[in-house]
Amino acid sequence: MRSHCRLCSYWSEAAGLCSPAAMGHTPGLPSLLFLLLCCGSPLLVPSQETTPQVTTNQDTTNQATTASQTTTSQATTSTATNSSQTPGKSNLVTDEAEAGKFVEDYDRASQVVWNQYTEASWNYNTNISTETSKLLMQKNIQMANHTLKYGIRARQFDVTHFQNATLKRMLRKIQDIESAVLSTQELEEYNQILLDMETTYSVASVCYANGTCLQLEPDLTHLMATSRNYDELLWAWRGWRDKAGRAILPFFPKYVNLTNKAAQLNGHTNAGDSWRSVYEMPSLEQDLEQLFLELQPLYLNLHAYVRRALHRRYGPQVVNLEGPIPAHLLGNMWAQTWSNIFDLVMPYPSAPKLDATENMISQGWTPKRMFEEANNFFTSLGLLPVPPEFWTKSMLEKPTDGREVVCHASAWDFYNGKDFRIKQCTTVDMEDLVVAHHEMGHVQYFMQYKDLPVTFREGANPGFHEAVGDVMALSVSTPKHLHSINLLSSQGNSHEQSINFLMKMALDKIAFIPFSYLVDQWRWRVFGGSITKENYNQEWWSLRLKYQGLCPPVPRSQGDFDPGAKFHIPANVPYIRYFVGFLIQFQFHEALCRAAGHQGPLHECDIYQSKEAGKLLADALKLGYSKPWPEAMRLVTGQPNMSAAAMMNYFKPLLDWLVAENKRHGETLGWPQYNWSPYSVRTEDKFPGSSRVNFLGLDLEEQQARVGQWVLLFLGVTLLVATLGLTQRLYSIRRHSFHQTHRGPQFGSEVELRHS
Ligand SMILES: *[C@@H]1O[C@H](CO)[C@@H](O)[C@H](O)[C@H]1NC(C)=O
Ligand SMILES: *[C@@H]1O[C@H](CO)[C@@H](O)[C@H](O)[C@H]1NC(C)=O
Ligand SMILES: *[C@@H]1O[C@H](CO)[C@@H](O)[C@H](O)[C@H]1NC(C)=O
Ligand SMILES: *[C@@H]1O[C@H](CO)[C@@H](O)[C@H](O)[C@H]1NC(C)=O
Ligand SMILES: *[C@@H]1O[C@H](CO)[C@@H](O)[C@H](O)[C@H]1NC(C)=O
Ligand SMILES: *[C@@H]1O[C@H](CO)[C@@H](O)[C@H](O)[C@H]1NC(C)=O
Ligand SMILES: *[C@@H]1O[C@H](CO)[C@@H](O)[C@H](O)[C@H]1NC(C)=O
Ligand SMILES: [Zn+2]
Repeated sequence: MRSHCRLCSYWSEAAGLCSPAAMGHTPGLPSLLFLLLCCGSPLLVPSQETTPQVTTNQDTTNQATTASQTTTSQATTSTATNSSQTPGKSNLVTDEAEAGKFVEDYDRASQVVWNQYTEASWNYNTNISTETSKLLMQKNIQMANHTLKYGIRARQFDVTHFQNATLKRMLRKIQDIESAVLSTQELEEYNQILLDMETTYSVASVCYANGTCLQLEPDLTHLMATSRNYDELLWAWRGWRDKAGRAILPFFPKYVNLTNKAAQLNGHTNAGDSWRSVYEMPSLEQDLEQLFLELQPLYLNLHAYVRRALHRRYGPQVVNLEGPIPAHLLGNMWAQTWSNIFDLVMPYPSAPKLDATENMISQGWTPKRMFEEANNFFTSLGLLPVPPEFWTKSMLEKPTDGREVVCHASAWDFYNGKDFRIKQCTTVDMEDLVVAHHEMGHVQYFMQYKDLPVTFREGANPGFHEAVGDVMALSVSTPKHLHSINLLSSQGNSHEQSINFLMKMALDKIAFIPFSYLVDQWRWRVFGGSITKENYNQEWWSLRLKYQGLCPPVPRSQGDFDPGAKFHIPANVPYIRYFVGFLIQFQFHEALCRAAGHQGPLHECDIYQSKEAGKLLADALKLGYSKPWPEAMRLVTGQPNMSAAAMMNYFKPLLDWLVAENKRHGETLGWPQYNWSPYSVRTEDKFPGSSRVNFLGLDLEEQQARVGQWVLLFLGVTLLVATLGLTQRLYSIRRHSFHQTHRGPQFGSEVELRHS
């Protein structure tokens, strides 16, 4: 039972497995050990997991065609799993002209059905009630009928020898019928679970003893952003997880099971494999790990610097300079972006301010005004303005008429080429001004590709969709631009202001990198089966520790479900798109700045009014999903790859400053005392004199644990060397041999595109 306590985690169980009392304060573990064991082994894990993916994807077409041959009804679709059966290709249609007619028919029909579905979903999202959810469930069924009907017809074509690559790409995509592959009964159950999870999350609130309740938006979000009281923050942090997270847990195992089942019936290994296939990159996991590692120096330096500031503010009892940071002190419910604690970490406090919030409020800005400003920025580049309907149909503020709504910001394409909306419970502040640009970026993408067949009305990859608005916000956030629209009094070009500005940006952009990376590391492993429901929460915190260097401020147990307290988990929205989006927005920014003729440091660039920059972006957006994303990347940046170089370039002056600052303080990078947590200290206070420590889940004398650590360090080094060698081999094998096309993305979560 003790094996529940893994290395890289300081899991504690109310039931006594690794009880907090036994955990103690593990002293002096060499910092290398953590880096080796926690960052070394995952190099291996994805490699092992992706190996089967290759063969399975080659089977995909076979399985799909099997289904079309043997079935025309939902009940028997599951025979598609019999991959030993080879399809008689002679029965399949190879006539391209006929396929062309089919996709035209599909396009016409889909516009109608998708529009109706989106309308029902919008009604529900902006007015949660039994009635709206019933109507949505009906449209869900209609949607599944449609997908199934056309999916089966699409599977009657053998596209292998099609000359027209576009046609081939469309049919491949239509052949994946997603959850419509489930039996009617399972599909209904699945849709109900999805609805229940999202509703549970959206209506959760945290209540004081006197009966006053706080909702996530805006109350708890505001509290997390502005309170500097350790216990008050803890109250909100814990309360939200007690209410939202724990309530999601009962739904989750069945959700995982059905999501996997649908993915498998569509020919994927599991749902994680299906989500990854959208990127059409066999080496996705390795490539992302590589990009993550390139950015890690920035994160580790930022982490150490911020930890020092929190130590100063909250004291050594609760912030350990060599341990992980308690997760509730970073200004955000999930510690995903940290700019709300800028006041605590500002490098040069006396330099002029960078936050426009005060001026927005004093000048009487409204949510509508914020979106008008965003629209104005897009049109200044020669990009498209939103249509009049946008302003009448969007929900830009949280309703005050008592309606429950899904507050999480999102942008909506109604698939009729003219109806595009945003739903956001906007607060008038600078953070939401950036979110407004983010959402308007989605709408710009919708408008740019509105004349493509519906199959292609998607981002080149999901990360592209997330990046567009953020690229605008990178210019808008510069002091120079905010000054030009009268929101800042200073242009901010002194060195001190530059460093302050870059720090503020880093608190959002750099802090988000490990978080956006780990959410789907967790989900991919849940779908892959290596994380089971017994250790959902434990593994979540292992990843939070490993990548973000955070620890929970209070003990967590198996009954907690902290991943469920983050919107995208109950809402079934993949998350790696945000990691990709954050990375490539700097590549786009760099390229657009070059087109705009910008001279000087990248972080000072403002592309406002550059028609050249706008043209470069529009040409890529117009492609939608019609071509593999590297082509869109090439149109913008002149080369086909994702890269961390632009982001590193942007933050170079800050990294230099951080390195010097951290050196001055003799800062330890990372969190060698990974086992430390504020409550273990507090518990220890209650049991003075105890020198017993918890090590790998064993309750040991301190000396025994030290010996153990050195043994592990040795093993860790050996493992790392072996892992690096193996990874390198797998990597080069993969690079050389796999060029098969992947299936396209799936309809569903792409209807609305959400803020992170
Ligand atoms: C798969 O198909 C083959 C050939 O039609 C058949 O003999 C076999 O029983 C099928 N297996 C399953 C599990 O349905
Ligand atoms: C390829 O197929 C698409 C979709 O049917 C069609 O619009 C396009 O004109 C075709 N291209 C060629 C070169 O025939
Ligand atoms: C919300 O939905 C209810 C039906 O449950 C409907 O009667 C009401 O008019 C809707 N409210 C708004 C503002 O659309
Ligand atoms: C979906 O299809 C089934 C069977 O083909 C039919 O009974 C049902 O009425 C259809 N539902 C909708 C909403 O179209
Ligand atoms: C309930 O308590 C909270 C926190 O102490 C306070 O902010 C709020 O005003 C109280 N509400 C009522 C109705 O007393
Ligand atoms: C779903 O659960 C059922 C029953 O526990 C199990 O037999 C099946 O293998 C699971 N399917 C997947 C895809 O995990
Ligand atoms: C893009 O990445 C591939 C694979 O790593 C590499 O071979 C190629 O040289 C890169 N292209 C550019 C322009 O960097
Ligand atoms: Zn988004």
